[in-house]
This record gives sequence, structure tokens and C-alpha cells, in this order.
Amino acid sequence: MTEAQKFYIKTFGCQMNVADSERMAALLAERGMLPTESVEDAQVIIINGCTVREKAVHKAVSALGGYQALKSKGAGAPVIGIGGCVGQLDQGKLFKRAPYLDFVFGTDTIDNLPEIIHRVQSGERHVVYADFDKSMDYSTETKVYARRAQAFVNIMKGCDKYCTYCIVPFTRGREKSRTIDEVVNDVARLVAMGVREVTLLGQNVNSFGKGNPNVKGREPRELHNRIGKVGPKEGEENFPQLLRAIDADPRCEALQRIRFTSSHPLDFSDELIECYAPPERGGVARLAAYLHLPVQSGSDAVLQKMGRHHAIEGYFAQMERLRELSPDVGLSTDLIVGFPTETDADFEATLALLDRVRFDNIFAFAYSPRPGTRAAKLRDDVPEDVKNARLNRALKHQLAIAQERYASRVGKVMEILVEGEAKNQNMAAEVGPRVWTGRTSCNRVVNFVSASPRDFTGKFVETRITGATSLSLQGELVLGEEAQ
Ligand code: SAM
Ligand code: SF4
Ligand code: F3S
Repeated sequence: MTEAQKFYIKTFGCQMNVADSERMAALLAERGMLPTESVEDAQVIIINGCTVREKAVHKAVSALGGYQALKSKGAGAPVIGIGGCVGQLDQGKLFKRAPYLDFVFGTDTIDNLPEIIHRVQSGERHVVYADFDKSMDYSTETKVYARRAQAFVNIMKGCDKYCTYCIVPFTRGREKSRTIDEVVNDVARLVAMGVREVTLLGQNVNSFGKGNPNVKGREPRELHNRIGKVGPKEGEENFPQLLRAIDADPRCEALQRIRFTSSHPLDFSDELIECYAPPERGGVARLAAYLHLPVQSGSDAVLQKMGRHHAIEGYFAQMERLRELSPDVGLSTDLIVGFPTETDADFEATLALLDRVRFDNIFAFAYSPRPGTRAAKLRDDVPEDVKNARLNRALKHQLAIAQERYASRVGKVMEILVEGEAKNQNMAAEVGPRVWTGRTSCNRVVNFVSASPRDFTGKFVETRITGATSLSLQGELVLGEEAQ
């Protein structure tokens, strides 16, 4: 009997890439291959790369460089491929940079991976498989490799927003959506496999359903939001309908949480905000009390140049309404500092936004020009040192806010989904043998110590919050939980 081949996947980038890597692992496992944590043991090495900022591209390319030496193993040398947004964008050009690279694939050709590997292992060199699927159809079934309580579910692909700084529409293609029926069936299947929390994925899930050729004969609907009208949409499905359909399906009874990412404020509809209401007031019961709504800047002038097509007051109005309906909702956002023409006053407006919204968490980035985008034609006129100084100030500013927000949870009892043992076991040294980590519905990390031999991974437990830092909460199990 021949020994099973091993594969090693290195993932960079957003949750979309994380979900894609899991799909790759599942596809290869279906062909009898095994994953390995050790790149030296692998016969197949895959880099799933991100291009959102220049630094991200460097990471993928330097990982590739690090694997070059393995090619000198002669007959035992692995085949090496690169995919994800880097593969999609740079395609055959990558062979010039790294002639030892064997194959390149894109974001729409993941399902061809076993075939590509077979071709390379049969002797073909420099295989490129990175055409976009030009049809407006999107139908798939989620593939999970490891049995876990959490799963990512792609509900749509691509992005049509074309924010002026962003490369993603060029790496993920045009927006297209699955149907509600298909997604609900998919989620129900995952629930039957033991999944208890799903994260619905798309670059902009609020666009779910737009222009889907597979949906016909629906009633015309009007959609509005605080910023403007985004309807009517004759015969189309939309994201709030999808949330409600999953929540109402009896096969999804055991599902405890629905999360989603990401959204755009422009079409973050009132209908979606209403989903956050308590269930007795018409809200979606399983929807997690958490929202990641990227705002990018607190300055209207900068937002306009970013092509975000909304003003900052509309964003505040959305946040206020959301907090009215769900006072404990966890909020996070993305920010870009140092966008071309950003003045000190524009940046101060971003700090003022942080004070006004009081997010639990922010993801802040220094602007990085991406070739081919509209903003790349603007002069990158904010010097690097100013960009970095602004980035540090924004992060420091938020740290103080996060610290207060975290501290306000001390004393409360919060339910968490345990993700596994914590990497840092320091907390256990004094009190007990094992530290576990999990997340609340509002996406806060809670660590707790237990002396119980029980494996809490994938379980929902109640914790009483005993302490807080700006990054996480410490808790203790509520009486009785250890034994369950
Ligand atoms: N579709 C999602 C959205 O709109 O939030 C995700 C976009 S991107 C994958 C994640 C974040 O990267 C963006 O929200 C933005 O803050 C940041 N980003 C995108 N392009 C960038 C650039 N050229 N320079 C710096 N940050 C960038
Ligand atoms: Fe990029 Fe804007 Fe699309 Fe998000 S909405 S992926 S930032 S173009
Ligand atoms: Fe990066 Fe592609 Fe995600 S560019 S952030 S991996 S969509």
C-alpha cells in the first residue's frame, strides 16, 4: 500500500481566505491526502495569499521564498502552488518571481485544485488556472475539513462596490449570490453534523440576492436605510430574508448563533437593523449581538474620495438605532489612515468618530496604494511617518475606549462558545491545570480556568466575568457548568 500524500496550506488574509483554505483541505482529503503541520513533510505546499495591502503580498512572497530550498530534495521534492487573491491577480507573472513555483490558481478555481495538482505531479510545469467564472450563477455546498461547532458559509462572492482604494473587486470578481433555499439547506446539513455557530460570509453581505438569475417570481420589495433608498428590487431575495429563513427552519433548531461579515454602510438597511431587535419585538433570535461595519474614516471629504458613497452622520444614525434595539451589541469597524489628501483635521474627525461610537474593537490600517485601483492614481501624499503616527494614535485612542468597555462587563454572567484551550496557560499556574478560551455572542474573548478533565471545546457554557484587559475578559464557570 502506498503512503498517503501530505499537504501543507499557509493562509494569509481575511476570513474569506480562511474559509477557502478549509475548502481546499476538504477537497484534498476527499482524494485521500492528509494535512500536515510540518512543511518539510509535505508533498504538496499551497500558499493562500492576500493582496489587500502591499505588506500582505510581501508576506505571501516571502513564505514562497522560504519554501524554495525544499525543491532541492530531488525526487522527494514537493510541488508548490500559490492561490487566493495573490494567485488571481498576478497569475503567470508569479513564475518570473519564483521559477520553482509549480502552479497558480485563483479565487474561482479552488474546486479544480485536485486536478491541477494531478497535472503538476504528472509532469506539467507552470500550470495556471485562474480564470474568473463569468456566469452570474453561484451555487455551491460548504465543505468542512474538521468537525467543529463553528463553520464559515459563503453566501455570496465578489464585490461591486469598487471603493477607490480596494483591490478586492479585482481579485474576487463580480458580486453573485446563492439562493436562500440553497444556503438554508447547507446550514441545516452543517447543523446535523454538529455545527452550532455559522458565520455567513461575503465581502458585502447586504448585497446578498442582488441580480441573482436563479430567483424568479418574488414579490417586488422596497428597501430603505438611514442613508438613502436602496430599492425597489423586483423579484430579488435579500439578506434579512436569509437570516429569517435560517432562524425559522426547524432543521436549524440546534443552531445557537448566526454571525456574518462583512457589510457596507451604504446598503446596511433598516430591515437588517430590525433583525437585531429582541425576538419578542420581531428580531432574529439566533442572530449574534455583534456587528462589524467598516467605516474607514470619520471625515466626509475622505469618505467621498474613497468612493464610499455615504456621509458620516448616516453611519452614526445606524449605530444609534442598532444600540436602541440591542444595547449590549458588540461593535467593530475597519479604518484606513493616511488616505491621499487626509489632513490632520480629517484624522481628528476619525478620532472623534471613535469617541462617539465607542467600538469594542477596531482594525486600523495605514493606506497602501494598490496598482490598478482609482486611488492609486492619486498622489500618495501623506508621508509614511505621518501615516504610522496616525495609525499608532488611532490604536492607542481605541485602547482606552476598549479598556472601559471591557471593564464594564465585570460581574456579569455571559454565555460563551468555547473554542478550545487558550494558547497562554499562565492564568492556570496559580489556580488550576487548564485555561479555556471562547467568545460571547457580542464577540468578546473570555478566558476561564477549569480543573475539570472535561473537554469544553465546542460547548456553550455560562461564565461570570471576574476581570478585564483591553483585549479579553477573564471569567469563572458558573456553578454546575463543570459537571455538565
Ligand atoms: N468588504 C469588506 C469591507 O468592505 O469591509 C472587506 C474589505 S478588505 C478585505 C478589509 C479592510 O482592508 C477594509 O475594510 C479596509 O479597511 C482595508 N483596506 C482595503 N484596501 C486597503 C488599502 N489599499 N490600504 C489599506 N487598507 C486597506
Ligand atoms: Fe473593498 Fe469596498 Fe468591496 Fe469592501 S466594499 S471589498 S472595501 S471595494
Ligand atoms: Fe485579502 Fe483577498 Fe481577503 S485581498 S483581505 S484575502 S478578499
